[in-house]
Amino acid sequence: MSLLKVSHVTKRFGGLTAVDDLSFDVHEGSIKAVIGPNGAGKSTLFNLLTGFDRADSGAATFLGGDLLGRRPDTVVRRGVARTFQNTQLFEELTAHENVLVGVEPSLRAGFVRSALRIGIRAEERDARERADHILRLLDIERWRDVIAADIPHGVRRSVEIARALATGPQVLLLDEPAAGLNGAETQSLAAALYRIRDHGATIVVVEHDMGLVMEVSEEILVLDRGRKIAEGPPLLIQKDVAVIEAYLGEEVEDDDV
Ligand SMILES: Nc1ncnc2c1ncn2[C@@H]1O[C@H](COP(=O)(O)OP(=O)(O)OP(=O)(O)O)[C@@H](O)[C@H]1O
Ligand SMILES: [Mg+2]
Repeated sequence: MSLLKVSHVTKRFGGLTAVDDLSFDVHEGSIKAVIGPNGAGKSTLFNLLTGFDRADSGAATFLGGDLLGRRPDTVVRRGVARTFQNTQLFEELTAHENVLVGVEPSLRAGFVRSALRIGIRAEERDARERADHILRLLDIERWRDVIAADIPHGVRRSVEIARALATGPQVLLLDEPAAGLNGAETQSLAAALYRIRDHGATIVVVEHDMGLVMEVSEEILVLDRGRKIAEGPPLLIQKDVAVIEAYLGEEVEDDDV
């Protein structure tokens, strides 16, 4: 079943079309990768889907409801969470507290219940336990009480994923989660992505690490200058001429990939 449906979405910045008439589906329970050279429009796509930017035209439906043009917090409450290309944590808070920040929106429902005398203490304990559970899911529980400023880069990325997961999303959008990770950290990220998926979240991951992309994704969407140039299972994408050209073409001008 298609959980998220993107139809003819376009975003222009002045004369530049960052996302160009883009359509694709994300199937429930899948891991989908979005790849493409620098500037292809991958992060812009996430910004449009999560209310951080407005599309010029097109639509995106999630669980049958409209997603575009909503506020970021509304998008999260509807069940779509994201991480950013540059990790954004509360530096003075511990890993556990950073994850609790993510639990907070669902805690609001708890405040309503507490008004009905079910008790705020139980709600708070629930939230703390949930944050601990998510730290374990990402295999970072040993960093629980360390403040973000003292946590190494590879672990910080996992804390950010944990915080997004704490909102209880049905779809998790990850923008380059493997950036700056070493081989062992990338392997552990791959395992975490499977565990997250098995816990019921659908994942869309923007990533430059082709090893990770080929390993975890069931389907790959390839963007180049805002346009979809290919979409399909990893084995077909690896052999796709347009994809190879997009990457080789970039290599001549920019060896950043
Ligand atoms: N707020 C903005 N204002 C103007 N141009 C922008 C803005 N955001 C993105 N762009 C431009 O839109 C294009 C797509 O950018 P985007 O960040 O989505 O690419 P990307 O695929 O995420 O690239 P990377 O792999 O480097 O992260 C780029 O040419 C970028 O310079
Ligand atoms: Mg980007």
